Amino acid sequence: MQEHSDLMRSLGKTIAFVPTMGFLHEGHLSLIRKGRELGDNLVVSIFVNPAQFSPGEDFESYPRNLDRDFDLAEKSGVDVIFTPDEKELYPRNFQTYVELEKLPNHLCGISRPTFFKGVATVVAKLFNTVKPHVAVFGEKDYQQLIIIRRMVRDLNFEINIVGVPTLREPDGLAMSSRNTYLTSEQRIDALCIYKALKKAQELLKNGINDAANIINAASELIKSHMGTTIDYITICDPETLVDMETIDSPALMALAVKIGKTRLIDNMMLNPE
Ligand code: PAF
Repeated sequence: MQEHSDLMRSLGKTIAFVPTMGFLHEGHLSLIRKGRELGDNLVVSIFVNPAQFSPGEDFESYPRNLDRDFDLAEKSGVDVIFTPDEKELYPRNFQTYVELEKLPNHLCGISRPTFFKGVATVVAKLFNTVKPHVAVFGEKDYQQLIIIRRMVRDLNFEINIVGVPTLREPDGLAMSSRNTYLTSEQRIDALCIYKALKKAQELLKNGINDAANIINAASELIKSHMGTTIDYITICDPETLVDMETIDSPALMALAVKIGKTRLIDNMMLNPE
């Protein structure tokens, strides 16, 4: 991979990179399309990163289908599919990790305390291997996106990080590889996540700017669906992720909800007029 990237760079080609954990869906394909626009040479990595799963999470059962991924990637104009081996990325005695001090202490980092350490570490390793000029991430994983932006600034990676808006199913459910875990009934319940975000936007439009009120309404809406468990619903500063009490400037509303055993996340901006 490094030799290929060195060659591309020596030819003056720009390398665009889309890191993924595979099981590609339309959401990934929108990142790939963006990558295609941004670079001469487009690299997609497929690696289910064990370092970002805690014991008891879905590392083993995470959906995988390399043949289908290769097919989709090829049809989408990807030049290189990079599928590193676990032992290559984490050789015996591996002991160096990338950890951020503040951004992981919010949202998903609370219930998944080692998740962003695993993400930042693997992304740093992939950056050093793929050597891209530009890398593309989805806004659905908002916290991941701003953590990568912070890491790139803090550690002087010469890489432009581009975010792509969340792609949704026609009814509004954010696309995610984990949607495949849902039964048909759960798929209907899962829509409450999108509805809660839309409700928040509507309340704000009607003049309610108290974050606690909005969170309460969203929470009631979700709880009215059997089989849902709220991990968190937060309205926070989009840069620091610190909770906001009053929405008097653009705020991020983010939430994680378990539908049965499947944990789904989503977010939207709340923009006061
Ligand atoms: O967003 C993902 O799929 C993963 O967290 C990433 C960025 C590929 C790192 O493993």
